[in-house]
Amino acid sequence: MSTKNTAPKYNYPHRHLLGIDGLSRDDVYAILDVAEDYVEKNRQLDKKHPLLKGRTLINLFFEDSTRTRTSFELAGKRLGADVINMSVSNSSVKKGETLIDTAMTLNAMHPDFIVVRHPESGAPELLARKVNCAVINGGDGSHEHPTQALLDALTIRRHKGKIEGLKVAICGDILHSRVARSNMKLLTLLGAKVHIVAPPTLMIACPEAYGVTPFHDMRKGISDCDVVMTLRLQTERMNGSFVPSNREYFHFWGLDREKMAHAKPDAIILDPGPIIRGLQIDSELADDIERSVILDQVEMGVAIRQAVMHLLNPHEKI
Ligand code: NCD
Repeated sequence: MSTKNTAPKYNYPHRHLLGIDGLSRDDVYAILDVAEDYVEKNRQLDKKHPLLKGRTLINLFFEDSTRTRTSFELAGKRLGADVINMSVSNSSVKKGETLIDTAMTLNAMHPDFIVVRHPESGAPELLARKVNCAVINGGDGSHEHPTQALLDALTIRRHKGKIEGLKVAICGDILHSRVARSNMKLLTLLGAKVHIVAPPTLMIACPEAYGVTPFHDMRKGISDCDVVMTLRLQTERMNGSFVPSNREYFHFWGLDREKMAHAKPDAIILDPGPIIRGLQIDSELADDIERSVILDQVEMGVAIRQAVMHLLNPHEKI
């Protein structure tokens, strides 16, 4: 199977991007292929492309974010849109306004895109039912973070030339991670073999429902893998303690050189960030330019978000 969608014109069939669920392989390859063009454009001195001139993008973030919010903002601005960043800390949500009322208020201003990040799983879907514009999920609870999985797939494809047939280990707090859920769906859709590696307290109940293989031993889980992805302990989603201590967690579940030696010699390391050095990954390994592609992920993030808006833009079809 080709890694590139060769169809000259691909009629992207969706109005929103709420999750990886519902996307076909062709949809995904269309997004990755459009993103490739933006990667090149973003490396030029002039990074602007007026595709979304006159359009309005609202970033509605009910949770903290560095990478996702700034890259959506940059993506919108590079495409010529007007971009509004709303953070909940200085909005009427603080006064008790509901998500729907906030959404209806913003909708009355005729935005073309709303990017929403919310601590509750399902919030973007609810919003999409109420507003007239395209809704993009910027991460909802432990549910999905589709643009993160797409930028991870683009990063992997650029380093390995393909995704189908690769062995990918996703390690850490699988239970609370929307990044893990979107990646399990996307990577299996594209034909990768996915291992999930976590202590029993941070493992999901039904790995078989995702078509992935669970491991409780990190060395076995990353053995012979082409890609190793580490994840942060999502303490903000934990009720009580899920690990005995940070030291013990790093000993068993932190990625270091010794554990990494079990992966393929040319295996790459991904992490969606924020990286907590010395907890999910050893600091020296996170900075190892031979192995770590963490900053490439950040670069791909802007291009993927441009590609998603490009394809969702109602008046622009490739
Ligand atoms: C992730 C998120 O918010 O889900 N980060 C991100 O978007 N880059 C992962 C995390 O917060 O640990």
